Amino acid sequence: MTALPAVAPPRTPAEWAAYYRLRYEVLRQPWQQPLGSERAPDDAQATTTHALLLSPEGYAAGVGRLSPSGAGQGQIRFMAVHPAWQGRGAGRQLLRYLEQAARAQQLTELVLHARATAVPFYEHLGYTVVAPSHTLFGTLPHFLMRRDL
Ligand SMILES: CC(C)(COP(=O)(O)OP(=O)(O)OC[C@H]1O[C@@H](n2cnc3c(N)ncnc32)[C@H](O)[C@@H]1OP(=O)(O)O)[C@@H](O)C(=O)NCCC(=O)NCCS
Repeated sequence: MTALPAVAPPRTPAEWAAYYRLRYEVLRQPWQQPLGSERAPDDAQATTTHALLLSPEGYAAGVGRLSPSGAGQGQIRFMAVHPAWQGRGAGRQLLRYLEQAARAQQLTELVLHARATAVPFYEHLGYTVVAPSHTLFGTLPHFLMRRDL
């Protein structure tokens, strides 16, 4: 089995395309959301940190993002691991990379809205549920989670 590649920000147009493709395929397409719905207006902000785990073949094995969300607080969004790479530590590596980036930005708290199916993953990595939050696409309950850095 292939060793996990290192996490880095997307740099080339091909890497950005791979980054957004995985976001779309894992987080939007299964719910028939239109192409473009995987993009957020603040993706382009200089304060947003993008994390990409690129497979040896050049497709995205995993992605995630961090952006500031309040005084000393950051928000993790768009965490997605390619089905072929799930359960192999990619999600953990992406999350730890974003947590390191948050510490480097002097953030002291991280929050995220986790799909119900992803809550155990985040709990395993030190996050706690604060409260139920929104239901996405009418079917996907989410939970607000947090952790101190
Ligand atoms: C949720 C997701 C990001 C996790 O990534 P992953 O690469 O599969 O997870 P990892 O292999 O890094 O798991 C890290 C640890 O969490 C545990 N874990 C992962 N998913 C888990 C789950 N559903 N329940 C319990 N533990 C889980 C793993 O066992 C591992 O712990 P260990 O190394 O001590 O055994 C990934 O499965 C995914 O993209 N799912 C679909 C999209 C999604 O739900 N994204 C999150 C939106 S909020």
